[in-house]
Amino acid sequence: MNWLDDSVNALSLLGAVVIIILTVLVVGKYVKQIKDDRATGELAPDNWDGIGEYKNELPVGWALAFLGTCVWAVWYWVAGYPVWAYSQIGEWNEEVAAHNAKFESTWSNANKDTLKAMGESVYLVQCAPCHGETADGMNGKAQNLNTWGKEEHIASTIIHGAKGMNYPLGEMPANLLDAESAKAVAAYVMAEMSPNKKTKYPELVETGKSLYATCAGCHGEDGKGMGGMAPDLHALVQGALNQGKKGNIGIMPSFKGRLSDIQMNALNEYIYSLQ
Ligand code: HEC
Ligand code: HEC
Repeated sequence: MNWLDDSVNALSLLGAVVIIILTVLVVGKYVKQIKDDRATGELAPDNWDGIGEYKNELPVGWALAFLGTCVWAVWYWVAGYPVWAYSQIGEWNEEVAAHNAKFESTWSNANKDTLKAMGESVYLVQCAPCHGETADGMNGKAQNLNTWGKEEHIASTIIHGAKGMNYPLGEMPANLLDAESAKAVAAYVMAEMSPNKKTKYPELVETGKSLYATCAGCHGEDGKGMGGMAPDLHALVQGALNQGKKGNIGIMPSFKGRLSDIQMNALNEYIYSLQ
């Protein structure tokens, strides 16, 4: 590579040479002055143990350099290099934004099968290390996602409660309903709210709907979680990914900002397709 092809390199090089020359000249001048000069100036009246001080004018060059630096600093911030000029980080950010926009527009209308396939690939990279390749949670180390979020899991959550996700409402208490009622509410949640919109017990949905009042205080009449106070029962996967969870073996990190909305939808599609 030729150094002088790049104007920034060439300017820096020139600047370095100028600085070296100036340093040699200035140092030379003062060394000579120390050797040769005899004091001639007017002394200030103060005297510290025999050490006096000359009344010197502020050197014009020094004052100009100071003012020039101020002007340059303002120029540098307002119009100079860091604000609008090229930077590698800026280029990287632009490329990422362009790539993300392309990703969004390519997949914004992806059908369920495509989302499921995408969800599986994201899953294998991001989630399988803890939840296992078959999503069985590796013997209770993380959640078994084959059953999580579905009928029996919801019923069991109502009986055992839930904690660890740091929602403003805190923990969900245990024993909110007896087993029969929990099963009915789970059927209602599955039929009306879960992405699957189907239940194994359609005959229980009406009963479940009336018992849902127990849940509405925290999860809202519509099950949407009252603006983030408790989980949105329509979007449990997204909720878990945004919040992260403190589990028995450790913490699942929040994936907020690390996965796009489309990827979250894809994971949702994939996890609800598991049985
Ligand atoms: C006192 C408030 C409260 C009530 C009442 C309540 N919940 Fe919850 N629920 C929560 C909170 C808070 C969480 C999140 C807990 C956590 O940190 O994991 C939650 C979590 C859940 C989850 C997700 C659990 C998981 O593992 O992801 C489901 C499903 C659920 N609730 C369903 C219900 C149903 C159905 C009812 C009615 C029977 C109900 N909840 C009643 C506050 C409540
Ligand atoms: C570092 C390990 C780790 C990674 C990576 C991880 N998880 Fe988890 N996950 C856990 C643990 C631990 C729990 C809590 C289990 C428990 O309740 O004891 C959990 C819980 C969950 C839950 C249930 C939350 C609830 O409401 O109870 C879901 C859903 C989930 N993970 C999905 C995912 C998905 C999807 C990914 C990939 C994007 C993922 N996890 C990546 C460790 C992990």
